[in-house]
Amino acid sequence: MKLHNLFLFSSLALGTLASPAPARIQIRATPTYTLTSGFTGVPPTDYPISCANVAPLGATRNDLLTLPCKNLTLIFARGTTESGNIGNIVGPPFVAALNSMLGSAQVAVQGVNNYAADIAGFEEGGSPTGSQNMAQLIALAQEKCPHTKLCVSGYSQGAQVAHNAADMITAGQTVFINSVVLFGDPDDGEAFGKVSASRVSTDCHFGDDICLHGDLILPPHLDYCLDVNKEAAFVVRMSGLKTV
Ligand SMILES: *[C@@H]1O[C@H](CO)[C@@H](O)[C@H](O)[C@H]1NC(C)=O
Repeated sequence: MKLHNLFLFSSLALGTLASPAPARIQIRATPTYTLTSGFTGVPPTDYPISCANVAPLGATRNDLLTLPCKNLTLIFARGTTESGNIGNIVGPPFVAALNSMLGSAQVAVQGVNNYAADIAGFEEGGSPTGSQNMAQLIALAQEKCPHTKLCVSGYSQGAQVAHNAADMITAGQTVFINSVVLFGDPDDGEAFGKVSASRVSTDCHFGDDICLHGDLILPPHLDYCLDVNKEAAFVVRMSGLKTV
């Protein structure tokens, strides 16, 4: 996947981008792509909605590194250009949805560190250092919290990072993963390491060019906050944990 022609939806914070190619700005409210089988998500009539203002400051969570174990551990990798370690577009609303179903006392959140989430990382298929960090965090979760239910998740480049991490871990670490949630996955259609497909929920919107292995950031790539309740319900169902 190459980013020689980078189109950006205008609501992105363009000032934070360091693009190797001149950035062009284009707004396309109407999806021009056909539905790929297996795609889920909201219908095109709901566009454009952006989640970018849900949590304007990128959030950072390091619960696995700093807190006692909890019943659920979410390891999350943010998308390109997001700040903090769980970003602002999908991470914080996803955490809020999990908290509202399970209670925050059951939910530990760990963002992927050592990960610039820059465009170069997306171009090379997901930051190698971020991918390594995510694989290390999966190993740590099993070592430190053998009774936790582990959810591995990522948005956009974060989904690439998660795919890469899944290819780096051992068979024992692979079966320790209880659920996987991928939002706006650039590697849509590819297996998630050796994790059973029944444990993987991929959330790709109609018209999201990134999910079609393209490089256009269109409105359907920016509104995955619409789906966090549905995906949190999947995580809860996989975990078997008690809801509040
Ligand atoms: C964690 O799960 C166990 C077993 O379901 C439950 O008894 C306990 O209350 C849970 N912890 C919290 C903080 O809810």
